Amino acid sequence: MPVEWRPEERQFHLHNGRISYVMRVLANGWLGHLHAGAPLAAGRSYAHLGPTDFQGFSQRVGEPVGLELPTAGSGDFRIPSLVVEQPDGSSLLDLRCVDHRVLPGKPPLAGLPSTYVVRDEEAETLEVELRDEIAGLEVRLLYTIFGDRPVIARSAVLANRGEGRLVVRTAMSASLDLPDSRWELVQLSGTWSRERYPHAAPLLPGRRSVGSLRGASGLEHNPFLMVQRPRTSEAAGEAIGLSLVYSGNFLAEAEVEPRGTARLRIGIHPEGFAWTLEPGAELALPEAVLAWSGEGVGALSDAYHDLYRRRLVRGPWRDRPRPVVLNSWEGVYFDFDHDRLVEMARATADLGIELFVLDDGWFGERDSDTSSLGDWVVDRRKLPGGLRALAHDVEALGIRFGLWIEPEMVSPRSRLFDAHPEWAIQVPGRGRTEIRHQLVLDLGRPEVVDHLEAAISGVLESAAISYVKWDMNRNITEPFGGTLPPERQGEFFHRYMLGVYELWRRLTTRFPDILFESCASGGGRFDPGLLAYAPQAWTSDDTDAVERLRIQWGTSLVYPVSSMGAHVSAVPNHQVGRITPLATRGAVAFFGQFGYELDPRRLTEAEGVEVRAQVRFYTEHRALFQQGRFVRLRSPFEDDGNEAAWMMVSNDRRRAVVAHYRVLGRPVPRYDRLRLRGLDPLTTYRVTPWPDAAGIGGVARAGDELMSVGLGIEPADPPNGVGVGDFTARLFDLEATGG
Ligand code: GLA
Repeated sequence: MPVEWRPEERQFHLHNGRISYVMRVLANGWLGHLHAGAPLAAGRSYAHLGPTDFQGFSQRVGEPVGLELPTAGSGDFRIPSLVVEQPDGSSLLDLRCVDHRVLPGKPPLAGLPSTYVVRDEEAETLEVELRDEIAGLEVRLLYTIFGDRPVIARSAVLANRGEGRLVVRTAMSASLDLPDSRWELVQLSGTWSRERYPHAAPLLPGRRSVGSLRGASGLEHNPFLMVQRPRTSEAAGEAIGLSLVYSGNFLAEAEVEPRGTARLRIGIHPEGFAWTLEPGAELALPEAVLAWSGEGVGALSDAYHDLYRRRLVRGPWRDRPRPVVLNSWEGVYFDFDHDRLVEMARATADLGIELFVLDDGWFGERDSDTSSLGDWVVDRRKLPGGLRALAHDVEALGIRFGLWIEPEMVSPRSRLFDAHPEWAIQVPGRGRTEIRHQLVLDLGRPEVVDHLEAAISGVLESAAISYVKWDMNRNITEPFGGTLPPERQGEFFHRYMLGVYELWRRLTTRFPDILFESCASGGGRFDPGLLAYAPQAWTSDDTDAVERLRIQWGTSLVYPVSSMGAHVSAVPNHQVGRITPLATRGAVAFFGQFGYELDPRRLTEAEGVEVRAQVRFYTEHRALFQQGRFVRLRSPFEDDGNEAAWMMVSNDRRRAVVAHYRVLGRPVPRYDRLRLRGLDPLTTYRVTPWPDAAGIGGVARAGDELMSVGLGIEPADPPNGVGVGDFTARLFDLEATGG
């Protein structure tokens, strides 16, 4: 059994040969932390990894002791993970283990997204119950270990078992004590149009954090942090990741104390947070997913990709082949009518694209972003036959139809706002900030969730809609819950998120066959929380191929290729004005949930031929791109950033597609070999450039050679010693020919 309990040392050891997590009940009843990371043998005591004579903090003030649930004011002067104010105003806690149980499988978390198991045999969950008798606080810590993954999922439930009111002020989902601080901290940060760039810096004394106070995980920082040993690469070295399955305000923080130990914590951001627990009440905390790799960052990403793709994403679209889409946004923006859309859809179908998505502008009287959010009624001026006629005409072309919505918002110029101004978030008697001319609805109010469920269900039932892009284009200002009493205003942000999740749950349950994609001004809520409802997300509003190299590289640290919407758009690119070859735009978007975002009627004949070939190539390799293993080879963040390379390998290692990108052409390109990873060393592969315009055909290369010597990527016959232009991409199609 992967959860071992040794009563002699009062030690818990979660182990599966790929990761170990060891804890011990200390002499004073507190839960001590002994080890997280490299797999250790079962059947042994690891008590020596923590204090042996620990009697209580009073005797060891300031000494760094590994703790699972550090609290404030107890002599552990590092950052706490739990602060609960009690009726007398104090926050001191003395949480002692009173019980534990091992549960088969993995219980769901009430109201919150989480990873799951399909069969109980896939995992075991340890529940450790701690109590502070004086406060009447019970904490149930939950640790799930999966049979074959280097991953531990942790969450907790807080319960008031006493008679007084408790106020939870800080409640981290995970706190991890590391015995040294010779690590680099890696975060994924950016802003609109350049989301999730990896940044690495050594851990230094004091604290370093990223987080969000926006009411969404945000474009700026992702709910994730990683520590890696210095000089860790994609293929070698140790790394630990902490990823939070949550889409709202979060904090991810590292602290190094004077004697050099480190503490990591991740959870709901404590700033402004205060959750009242009346007697008998409970609060479930979001899940944190810890992953460990001793073989580089690539293996850490593998662990997250596989877990999130198979056991966080749910519903029929988890495993179904996902369609190639064409989204209307960059093609026509708000400027369309029924006939133009049907013409676009016809051109879409002619290209072999499988689904046509109508983006913003189909409802109310929305000719720009200044009105109508909230009025989810079709605009008959543009679409006289409604969505039903449009979807019908699109389907008659042999393709599917998809639609954009932004349910959480309201425009001040809308019927909904006229009818229910009180549903828009604002502090009574004060001004309201409009962002993109819109306000946010208070989804903490159950009647708002009910209304939106009915309104959006009405739309989705009104026509043959196979796909929904659910957008969210502004963050929350003037936070205030109109129905919350003054002492509960600190619950506002989390209640908003619970309402958002509830709406997602209801709509995805009611419409299981619709493929949902989430979006938030691009990747402003690209997090594991939403992946539990929508299997894919719009990665970034930036569709430029060169920019996307960095965005998709960084995103892939945690998130699988199958979750990253990636579209070929027109040139000059609408975000950066760059003109890149169509081949390069395709070669970048293949490594995402592939599609187009342009007006297909404007393609030249030659471009049409090229797009058809791209769609054919993608659909022929769809299983590989959507379910294979993504391997990062050359980082666009290293050296001068002029190159990038990555590949997909099928799970049976018989197929692969390798891509190498060069940003600027350089004279006299150097001879270069790209070392591949993840192939079968004993297999021979036919390596064929794609497209194979010159008809060169493939060459046979052994897997071990491709991995240890590499694949030659120098341009064939550079004319006059000059490179082949800017923004180039080369693709290679690998197929096993024998053992
Ligand atoms: C956001 C999205 C875009 C598009 C527009 C529509 O910016 O990120 O993809 O849907 O909204 O208004």
